[in-house]
Amino acid sequence: MRLGVLTGGGDCPGLNAVLRALVRRGVLEFGHEFVGILNGYEGLMEPRLTEPLTLDQVRGILPKGGTILGTSNKANPFKYPERHEGKMHEVDRSDIALKRYRELGLDGLVVIGGDGTLSIGHQLALKGMNVVGCPKTIDNDLSGTDQTFGFDTAAGIITEAIDRLHSTAEAHQRVMIVEIMGRNAGFLTLEGGIAGGADVILIPEIPYKVEAVVKKLKDRAARGSKFSIMAVSEGAYPFGGSVAVLQKAEEIPGRGVVRLGGSGKVLADLLAPHIDAEIRVTVLGHLQRGGTPSAADRVLATMYGAMVLDLIREQRWDHMVCLRDGRLQFTSLAESRKERHVEPHGDKVRMARSMGISFGD
Ligand code: F6P
Repeated sequence: MRLGVLTGGGDCPGLNAVLRALVRRGVLEFGHEFVGILNGYEGLMEPRLTEPLTLDQVRGILPKGGTILGTSNKANPFKYPERHEGKMHEVDRSDIALKRYRELGLDGLVVIGGDGTLSIGHQLALKGMNVVGCPKTIDNDLSGTDQTFGFDTAAGIITEAIDRLHSTAEAHQRVMIVEIMGRNAGFLTLEGGIAGGADVILIPEIPYKVEAVVKKLKDRAARGSKFSIMAVSEGAYPFGGSVAVLQKAEEIPGRGVVRLGGSGKVLADLLAPHIDAEIRVTVLGHLQRGGTPSAADRVLATMYGAMVLDLIREQRWDHMVCLRDGRLQFTSLAESRKERHVEPHGDKVRMARSMGISFGD
């Protein structure tokens, strides 16, 4: 078979490991030929954005972050950004994607991405393309799978960052706020916050009350703790307030979702009138998506990449690989469109609460 492959949405550690596993098993066991489609769906829309993806291309890429195919989160063929009379518009150009797919002589298309990429893959499947998917995102917020690769690495980076912030917090007796990615899901903040020993964890699933956070900080000070660490999701917001947005969806043609950011500053401003200690905000930003994947993410990405070939062998188009109850399985791409969230009364939150971590409620 001749198979197209693309990586879409934000990059994350493990994408190259998927590509390596996919191409190695695909070539060695099935004799497939792979076409790399560059820069996410942009490569399916614009000419000359493809290149052969061979065993040579995937040699030595296992430990590399990013993606050798490039990616984009602004090239949705169904809402393709185009300039008309000086203004950007979103236009349905999915027919071009279908035409290019046929011109490239593809028997199938492997899309590796988060909810946006997988959901576009589902729409393309409905138009007649043979699409299979592989879930990725540091946010771990896809309902179709219990775990996405990239999450473990990002959680490790957050933990190390909090460890490092502890020393300055302690030395200067400061309140340190760490703003963590994850969009509208708090998995990364919860994981990194528990692992890093944060005193307060604020996640989108549990809107916080300023008085509750102030009380926690004051209680700590009264007990002799001169500093505090707060892990805050970019999607966290005060009760009755709203999420901090850097750019609205309509300001980013082709992307379709808002760009979050600033929740740490919002929290610092709300706390400042009530707290004597200095408050500092660290935004971890794209550091969380960079660098070499952890061992766990390399293994998960490798399993996913190899498993995609089972989907193709069985011609289960419009499906993706996933992990459920510790086992590799398949699920429909339509499933990927639903977001997953931290269970506010789940075990991790309950246990964290039981040892004094505040969720600001
Ligand atoms: O989905 C991954 C993610 O890193 C989110 O956690 C974050 O909100 C978003 O992507 C940032 O996107 P960008 O890199 O386009 O600013």
